[in-house]
Amino acid sequence: MQITLVTQPYAALETDALVSYVFEETDPVRGHIAEIDQAAGGLLRKLAKSGELTGKMLEFTLVHAPAGLKAARLLLVGAGKREQFSGAALRKISGASLRYLKARGVKNFALLVREGEAREDTAQTIAEGVLAADFESDKYKTDKKNDKNIESVLIAGYSDAERSAGEKGLSRGRIIADAQNFARDLINEPSNKLTPRVLAQKAEAMAKEAGLSVEILDEKKIADLKMGALLSVAQGGPEPPRVMVVTYTPAKPKPGAPVIGLVGKAVTFDTGGISIKPSEGMEKMKYDMAGGATMLGVMRALAALKPGVKVICVVPSTENMPGGKAQKPGDIQTAMSGKTIEVLNTDAEGRLILADGVHYAKQLGATHLVDAATLTGAIVVALANINVGVFGSDQPFTDKLLASSKAVGEKMWQMPVDDDYREFIKGTVADIQNIGSGKGGGAITGAMFIKEFTGDTPWIHLDIAGTAWNDDAKPWLAKGPTGVALRTIVHLILSY
Ligand code: BES
Ligand code: MN
Ligand code: ZN
Repeated sequence: MQITLVTQPYAALETDALVSYVFEETDPVRGHIAEIDQAAGGLLRKLAKSGELTGKMLEFTLVHAPAGLKAARLLLVGAGKREQFSGAALRKISGASLRYLKARGVKNFALLVREGEAREDTAQTIAEGVLAADFESDKYKTDKKNDKNIESVLIAGYSDAERSAGEKGLSRGRIIADAQNFARDLINEPSNKLTPRVLAQKAEAMAKEAGLSVEILDEKKIADLKMGALLSVAQGGPEPPRVMVVTYTPAKPKPGAPVIGLVGKAVTFDTGGISIKPSEGMEKMKYDMAGGATMLGVMRALAALKPGVKVICVVPSTENMPGGKAQKPGDIQTAMSGKTIEVLNTDAEGRLILADGVHYAKQLGATHLVDAATLTGAIVVALANINVGVFGSDQPFTDKLLASSKAVGEKMWQMPVDDDYREFIKGTVADIQNIGSGKGGGAITGAMFIKEFTGDTPWIHLDIAGTAWNDDAKPWLAKGPTGVALRTIVHLILSY
């Protein structure tokens, strides 16, 4: 899909649809909307009077053959109250417009930004919104002849003086959305098509193409490094594990900047192991590698955005299978750090592989850690599928991430990881155990387990189990993988 920023007067644009957005206020027909209304002989004011055009968030008003415009259609999308308008709203409006028009067989449209809004961030947000919205999970459908496609989008409402800012935003938005869709594509792959080895090949290919350095650790190297926690999960099935290490090194590092370590859980399928999961809904466990895919997507974006910060990405990957050699409840494993773990539930495998992942990222020189993982069903109980669960050992670092999440419109909510929770994972026969002893707080327990391996290094854990997958399509996003947390982490890194 092509996206182009244009500076021609919007009335002259020959397009299948001119799209703009309308605020919910006493008089929604203002600014550009009032100009269009005048050219159309008062049509929009009439619609507003009749209550058909109110500006309520994501209300769609479609007008065919609008007088005064070269466009074949005019689509007005409700933007909600002006005071509450934000990048997040514009991203949804842009995406929902694309999906609304695509469903109606439209091939191209122009999105007119409202007066006073023709900025860099506006174009970035629109690019992110339409590209994410265009993503469909139809890769394995063999009959695509009736598929509908948007071929091109114009961003309008910019003057010649505003063009270069707009184009900068557009190009950044495209980089970020392409990276997000790259991650979503990986997350969508079923586990028979995407084993740890295949994921590693794809990570390697991406890194080489993007100009990032990459090392893939195979099962032998993983054993040499004594990653016993990761190996304990991998021993349950025939597919060997992999650890992907992708590094971005800036040409001119900012003096005093941190070295960020990104660690992503990539369980390509989670059966639960011997503590096997119920079969209902188990097919969804192909997305248990979403954290890893997201971190690889972040790296892909960073290669193009070139921040002045070094970033080391570590993605441990395995299946969690209940084979004859699988670990069993009660087994004791030794993590790479030397800590011993009593595995009371083989389904709490994400924390095991992350234990070795964060330890290795530290050993490679990370001064600050961020992990992302579909870690617990308990985070869905706590925050539903609305907010990412954020756990942080260093409040200034965590605040920085929360500010980034606000800036990019990804909802995140902080949860506690103070020492009072440490007793949940205290071991009886080993140093620690991988589940709590039935006191609730399951998402915190998972986070506390990872924290054990981060030491004094400032660390943030993102539990994306509730937010990495949309069970139902949204007006602005297809059903399936969301790529959540990618934009936040990219923003965090760019903010140094
Ligand atoms: N991958 C799951 C968590 C998950 C649940 C992700 C639902 C997406 C949707 C994780 O490995 C897991 O099984 N966690 C257990 C932990 C429990 C055994 C302490 C869980 O949440 O039930
Ligand atoms: Mn599990
Ligand atoms: Zn899992």
